[in-house]
Formats: sequence, structure tokens, C-alpha cells
Amino acid sequence: MKFDEVREHFPIFKKLDAEKVVYLDNASTTQKPYEVINAVMDFYENHCSNVHRGVYRLGEEATEMFNHSRENIGKFIGAKDREIVFLRNTTEALNLLAYSLGSRLKEGDEIILSNSEHHSNIVPWQMLKERKKVRLKFINSRHDQPITPEDLSPLISGNTKIVSLTECSNILGNINDIKPISKIAHDAGAVMIVDGAQSVPHMPVNVKEMDCDFLAFSGHKMLGPSGIGCLYGKEESLEDLPPFMGGGEMIRTVTKENFTCEDIPIKFEAGTPNIEGAIGFSAAIDFLRNLGMSNVRNHEKDLISYTLKKEEESNIRDLISYGTRNIEKRAGIYAFNIGEIPKFDKENIISENISVKVHAIHPHDLSSLADKTYGVELRSGHHCAMPMTEDLGVSATTRASYYVYNTREDVEKLFDAISASIKRFGF
Ligand SMILES: Cc1ncc(COP(=O)(O)O)c(C=O)c1O
Repeated sequence: MKFDEVREHFPIFKKLDAEKVVYLDNASTTQKPYEVINAVMDFYENHCSNVHRGVYRLGEEATEMFNHSRENIGKFIGAKDREIVFLRNTTEALNLLAYSLGSRLKEGDEIILSNSEHHSNIVPWQMLKERKKVRLKFINSRHDQPITPEDLSPLISGNTKIVSLTECSNILGNINDIKPISKIAHDAGAVMIVDGAQSVPHMPVNVKEMDCDFLAFSGHKMLGPSGIGCLYGKEESLEDLPPFMGGGEMIRTVTKENFTCEDIPIKFEAGTPNIEGAIGFSAAIDFLRNLGMSNVRNHEKDLISYTLKKEEESNIRDLISYGTRNIEKRAGIYAFNIGEIPKFDKENIISENISVKVHAIHPHDLSSLADKTYGVELRSGHHCAMPMTEDLGVSATTRASYYVYNTREDVEKLFDAISASIKRFGF
């Protein structure tokens, strides 16, 4: 499949193109192709049954489709099917790790995160900190540089037990090279966890090559349905991990006194799983494999480098953008501001002059105008990355994020909308 044919596979673009709407919030969630929609419908229409239970035909069909999905998704990241746990999303996967790995930690043990993490890779560890009195340390990286092994090394100590980092920042688009980071973590005897929510959908990812112990990602950010995501864990790491939730499915035996667990990965899948979600996710994987992940990465590299070029050419007064300008290390995410939007400190809230003190448009105003007037759908706010937003010295940013169906024309519309919005605000 070629990139100029991609849009035809997405029913929503018939409507959006007719309404002249440009969807640029793909880091949040992506649109779904017919292939995914049809796979989910086919399950409901022809194979609907629970899995791993009934020995009747429908039950066997559903189980086979579910198992195939696991195998297919595993292969996509270089993992065995035993190493793929189906969960709701990245957030649930990281919570599982904070709970299960965390149950083995003791007071004073250290976990290293970074200031560019999504809240889902911060809050579960903060909750663990409350339970276990562990210590959280943060790599405070600059917005215009990915995290390097040199950023991690000084934070490592004899107490480091976990390093948990994103492979790609959802606010900056910076891509962190995990392999050398993982080596440092492992040399220190720590577990390496990778948040792959923004990397697995956008670039070739191979868990064996990056040598992480765990990797979390979500189906809905890569053309699949919502409510289905995966935790990859090295076979031996998953074997060693205590279960997260108890209930049906995850057990082998239950007595009035006790229970024994199923083998991995089912040990972590209590209750009826999102069967149709897994099947739809697998169809999304087929779609992306058909495009080729190196091609997906190159397509997005082209869009972000075109964005940075348009930014330079457009010469928009007070446009500030964030993230590395090294295209090799930059995903298709573009966060920016028109003027510095001050943080919400008391002084600014009570200042009567705030609007004249700064030559700025608040991201909520900008994205609202860009949508209502120019049909360009952008995200505004902290993007669930408040620590980085804080470190940028602002309260919010506006973000455009691309995927396989976006085009250079979409980038042009983005800049037309920014320029026109600024004029509307009278700047
Ligand atoms: C880097 C990163 N990690 C984690 C998440 C959480 O993903 P989900 O909401 O699918 O759990 C997101 C979502 O935007 C993200 O961008």
C-alpha cells in the first residue's frame, strides 16, 4: 500500500474531507481503517463467544482468533506470544508493573523516571512511593534534547531497582535511544521498563534489540480499538512477577484456602478479556505491517521536517516550539506556543495586566479558533505531561501530532490556521 492510498481505507475521512476538517491529534488517539472495523464486526457477526472456556465450535473459533492476535502482535515487536499480556492500555500496563514489581520493593529503593514522562509513567510510581516509601528520582532533560545514557548514569546508585522511561515523549516528540540506557540500568541490576505508547505505533520497535524487560503500548494509538493494550515482558521477568488482579481466567486451581496461577501471560489477565479489541488490534498491526514500519517512520519524518521548515519560512512572531530539531531523533509531534503562556502562579492569576503583559494566545483559545474557524483539530493543555510543561515554564502548549494518513497539505493547513488565528486575535 502507498501512503497516498492510505486515506481511502478510513471511512471517517469521507466525512472529515467533505467538511474540510484536518485531524491532528493522533498522539491522543488515531482513526480506524475499514480493516479494523470489519475485523471487530466479523467477530460480533460470526464468532462471538468467550475465550479459553467453551469446547463448542464458537468458543474454539474465538479462542483461536484471540490467540492468533496475541501471536501477531508479539511478532510485530519481536516477542513470543507468551510474552504479551493483554490489558486495557499503556496506563494499565504501567500500573500493573508498579503494583507487582513494587510489591517486592522496600523502603529506600530507588526508581528513576524523567521529567518528560506521561502521567501514566509517574503517578503509579508516586502511589507506590506512598505505600512503600521508595524514592523517585527524575532525569531532568532539556526539551530540545532526547534523554541520553549520560543523563541516567549520575542518578544510578546501589539502591536503583527500576528505570522507567518513555521511548518517545508525547509532548516533545523526542525519541530516546533505549538500548544504551537499558544497558546502564541492567549493569546496575535494575529492571528497565519502556513506555512505548508513542513509539510502537510510529517506528520499528524490537524488544530484543532494545533489551528492555517490559514495554507498554496501546492499541487505540495505532489504528486499533480503544480498551486494548499490551504489556510485553521478557518470559523470565513475567514468570517471576506476582499477579496483579485475581479472579477467573488467571487461576489454575482454587480451593477455599488458596489458589494457584495459570501460566504466563494468562496469569495477568483476570476476567473476560477484550476479545474483539485484541482481534481489531491485530488487524491494525496487519495494516501497519503492510505499510512497513520503516516507511511509517519515514513518512512521519517527512511531515515533521516539513513542519519545522514551514515554521522557519512562516516567520510567525513569537512562535515558540519545543522538542529536538534533529529529525533523526524526532517523531511527528509538534508542540508550540504563541508567546510564553505564564504558569498559573498566584501573581499571574491576580494580575489585572496579564493579557497586556504578554504577547500571547492561550493554547485553548488558539486550538478552539483553529478548529471552529479553520477546521484544524489540535490538542491544547498539558497533554498529561505536567512536569515537562512546568519545566518548559508554561501552563500549556498547543500540539499537532501526525500519523500515516496525514499529508504535507495538512501541515500547510496547520500553518495557515495558526497565521489566520493570530490575525484574528489582532496581533
Ligand atoms: C507517552 C505516553 N504514555 C502513556 C500514555 C497513556 O496511554 P493510554 O491512555 O492509552 O493508557 C500516553 C497517552 O497519550 C502517552 O502519550
